[in-house]
Amino acid sequence: MNCLSPSILAADFKTLGEQIRQLDEAGAQYVHIDVMDGAYVPSISFGMPVIKSIRECTDRMFDVHLMIEEPIRYIDDFVEAGADIITVHAEACTHLDRTIDEIKAKGLLAGVSINPATPVSEIVPVLEKVDMVLIMTVNPGFGGQKLIPYTLDKVRELKRIVDQKGLKVDIEVDGGVTLENVEQILDAGANVIVAGSAVFNGEIEENVHRFLHVLNS
Ligand code: DX5
Ligand code: ZN
Repeated sequence: MNCLSPSILAADFKTLGEQIRQLDEAGAQYVHIDVMDGAYVPSISFGMPVIKSIRECTDRMFDVHLMIEEPIRYIDDFVEAGADIITVHAEACTHLDRTIDEIKAKGLLAGVSINPATPVSEIVPVLEKVDMVLIMTVNPGFGGQKLIPYTLDKVRELKRIVDQKGLKVDIEVDGGVTLENVEQILDAGANVIVAGSAVFNGEIEENVHRFLHVLNS
């Protein structure tokens, strides 16, 4: 199934709860939550208290993207805050396998992410134990960047490997997704689509409907 995961990094935080309700009502399946620590990525976003507070606004899946060093230190906190899926960066984990085990042991879905310049081969050893792979289509750290075209070759490569192995792993794409390029991204093999500025700039519900129309056709 194709899912839309709007990134609240692009939201207007003074009315965050209201905007999350709008996403929910418009039918977006996930809420993409970008946590940045100012070390793994240059910027700092928000953390557990914000997630806990918006947990009351929707029952939709909380797709928590941890752009933090050694995320294993905080898995318990994000579980407690209300995460449903926790995605960690392969580049940020000294012990990736152990980090994934920690997430799975809490009964959550586990995702692993790679930056544009990290090869797909890096995460092949853990493919059998993750629920989702997030292929970054921009360098993480900021919303509103342009998709780096070669990253879609990585989506194709990953899709081929997943199918060859007969696995049921979701392929998520994050960064620079627009209504203009989303079809190409789906064709490459992605099925979980993150969109920040393309959802929050303008009419949220209308943008979600437009994306879902493409995702469902
Ligand atoms: C980038 C974040 C993305 C970002 C997407 O570091 O992981 O989720 O918010 O924003 P857009 O869709 O505006 O590129
Ligand atoms: Zn993200």
